[in-house]
Amino acid sequence: MCLTIPAKIKSLDKNIAEIIQGDNYKKIDISLLNNLKVGDWILYTNKFAIKKIDSTEAKEITDLLDLRPNLEIKGVSNRLIKVLEMAQLHELNLSDIEYLLKIKNKNDLEFLYSEADVIRQANLKDFFCIHGIIEFSNYCQNNCDYCGLRQGNKNIKRFRMSIKEIVGTAVSAVKKKGYKLLVLQSGEDYFYNDEKLVKIIKEIKNRCRVFIFVSIGERGKGCYEKLKEAGVSGVLFRFETANNRLFKKIHSQGKNYKNRLKHLELFKKLGYFIATGSLIGLPGQNVKDLANDILLMKKFAQMVSMGPFIPTENTPMARVKKGDWTSEEKIELNLKMIAIMRLIKKKARIPVVTALETLAGSEIRKKALSSGANSLMFNLTPAKYRPYYKIYGNKFYQKENVWEKYGLFKEVESYKMLEKRMAEELNI
Ligand code: 5AD
Ligand code: SF4
Repeated sequence: MCLTIPAKIKSLDKNIAEIIQGDNYKKIDISLLNNLKVGDWILYTNKFAIKKIDSTEAKEITDLLDLRPNLEIKGVSNRLIKVLEMAQLHELNLSDIEYLLKIKNKNDLEFLYSEADVIRQANLKDFFCIHGIIEFSNYCQNNCDYCGLRQGNKNIKRFRMSIKEIVGTAVSAVKKKGYKLLVLQSGEDYFYNDEKLVKIIKEIKNRCRVFIFVSIGERGKGCYEKLKEAGVSGVLFRFETANNRLFKKIHSQGKNYKNRLKHLELFKKLGYFIATGSLIGLPGQNVKDLANDILLMKKFAQMVSMGPFIPTENTPMARVKKGDWTSEEKIELNLKMIAIMRLIKKKARIPVVTALETLAGSEIRKKALSSGANSLMFNLTPAKYRPYYKIYGNKFYQKENVWEKYGLFKEVESYKMLEKRMAEELNI
């Protein structure tokens, strides 16, 4: 489903209304709604008014989305303007990206965010996508040094949802709440063998129309072939870092970078929609590494999936050392990376991830959505399991209700819209 910015009716002429949104006037068709009058608030698509809302609701949504004002170019450094011009020609190279990541000047920084916001608006209008994630098992056979779900962590309670529970949670998210894209995520847990996974996907697809993404780790060619055939559309699969040496360091007990990349190539070949990206602010990671992460996302991602590294109890990387990135630095780097990815992949889905909200607090959502991000991933894991899915500590839980309440296009229409957009995005 998606959320869009409200507009107010300025004048009416039969089935056509002139609406005002911020400083913009526009004419739209109101034939789908009855009894509209001047002064009413509405939500609309390109052409049609879809839903009438009251002024309190309009304020509630505007407060969530709040458009960033266009900034003046005065006081912005020449190099930034040059680099932004290069971005328009699709020619950002590694050193341009490094330059953007190193921006310190407040004026320049706000200008970068504002440019990304303008590009988001020009390419994706004011539709913000809302997707859901179901974390169905916190068992994992791996031991990634940064992750609270690592097998070696004996201090968390493990859970597995039954097939019936997973299917039920997914179907009710689609039918009752209007979700159209769901991610099914777990640790790398072979309790769910290929056969079980196929069964889950087929049952969900039989009972409702929804795009399913999986986030289940390095399961190899055979598994991903079967899942594609069963109806999975995409994968959420981070490469974590494009620096081979650093990858080795944070996976001291196995996992190799080559196999990670091999999987991304496999997904591309199988025609999966790919959500991938990296951890931001790892100990020992530098700006050049992050610039390389951006280039690797450019190569593979239709959806960006990146977030700040959060040191986590009961892992080898729990302790912050002198010289590590601070939380503030990671938050700023993450915002910059969102903006840069928007310059590079104009139509990509760029979510504001939970790890960023955990580190920066809920206010960051608005900031990120006006700096190039265009989507959110809401947690749909049943409440009784949520406390145990501790990839990192103090996980932030969203206030989804307002968003879900105003979500548009909850029916077949939304599915078709998404289908068309995903097809377009797969070709970019
Ligand atoms: N901080 C932030 N993100 C983490 N992940 C794992 N551990 C952490 C952490 N400590 C992310 C990884 C993984 C995803 C499922 O969770 O990027 O791919
Ligand atoms: Fe397992 Fe994924 Fe955590 Fe690694 S990051 S330990 S694969 S859940």
